[in-house]
Amino acid sequence: MKITIIGAGNMGGAIARGLARGSRVAAADITVADPDPGKLDSIKASNPHIHTATSNREAAAGAGIILIAVKPWLVKEVITALDINPAKQIIASVAAGIPFSEYTAWITPQPATLFRIVPNTAISQQESMTLVASHNATREQEQLIISLFEEMGPTMLIPEKQIPATTALASCGIAYVLKYIQAAMQAGIEMGIAPKDAAKIVAQSAKGAAALILKGDTHPAVEIDKVTTPGGITIKGINELEHAGFTSAVIRALKEAGKG
Ligand SMILES: NC(=O)c1ccc[n+]([C@@H]2O[C@H](COP(=O)([O-])OP(=O)(O)OC[C@H]3O[C@@H](n4cnc5c(N)ncnc54)[C@H](OP(=O)(O)O)[C@@H]3O)[C@@H](O)[C@H]2O)c1
Repeated sequence: MKITIIGAGNMGGAIARGLARGSRVAAADITVADPDPGKLDSIKASNPHIHTATSNREAAAGAGIILIAVKPWLVKEVITALDINPAKQIIASVAAGIPFSEYTAWITPQPATLFRIVPNTAISQQESMTLVASHNATREQEQLIISLFEEMGPTMLIPEKQIPATTALASCGIAYVLKYIQAAMQAGIEMGIAPKDAAKIVAQSAKGAAALILKGDTHPAVEIDKVTTPGGITIKGINELEHAGFTSAVIRALKEAGKG
């Protein structure tokens, strides 16, 4: 299966590198198109087998999957300039905020098989939480797209209507987790811990908390209960967080982001 990625920026570049590192697609079956030869050179430098092109039309011809990774306001212009064969080509897009109804208006003839992909920036470390919604796809096509993105982190199929909420949890959520890491580092630094050490201690603790949930059949409340000894220091900190409105602030932040 040949795959063409249009747009060699943060997302397109990370996906090209991630796919080339994985085992589902040969690097020689990946083509990346972008008007900027410098960005294409940097992708080539990561894996010389990846093909690059400055013409989107030429790059997309013959691809089984065309993955759109340009800024949302450029998607219509890019898609309508392609010569898509919906009978043979799957269109996938990482562009935020564009519903299937717009793609179906831009692509002729219909029906076309479409995917909306919502990765987060941890995709550059093969640690994305990726959400996938499909339109007019078979179970096999859904499995194909999921298997490709699973090379770059856990991937979940969701209905399109859940994209705003799951984007808040995953794509925006990574920024909220980083905000916690940054705040905890500030506390550590005030208590005399070197910034680099504080970053490592806090980030590994966050990774450990995530591992407890992802690898163990458990719930945050169960794990918190294990560290909150009656009269101990952890419960004092938890209660300070609640007095400051921590839970409420997180819920409000996620709901605000989930409005899209
Ligand atoms: N970054 C994220 O965390 C994230 C997460 C989820 C989804 N997304 C989505 O991913 C998409 C790309 O975001 P990004 O952060 O990767 O943006 P980006 O770094 O700006 O990458 C977009 C790339 O597309 C190139 N480009 C512009 N016009 C083009 C054209 N006509 N044909 C081919 N390539 C063209 C740009 O080149 P120039 O720079 O020269 O214009 C740039 O290299 C967006 O739609 C965004 O909503 C991003």
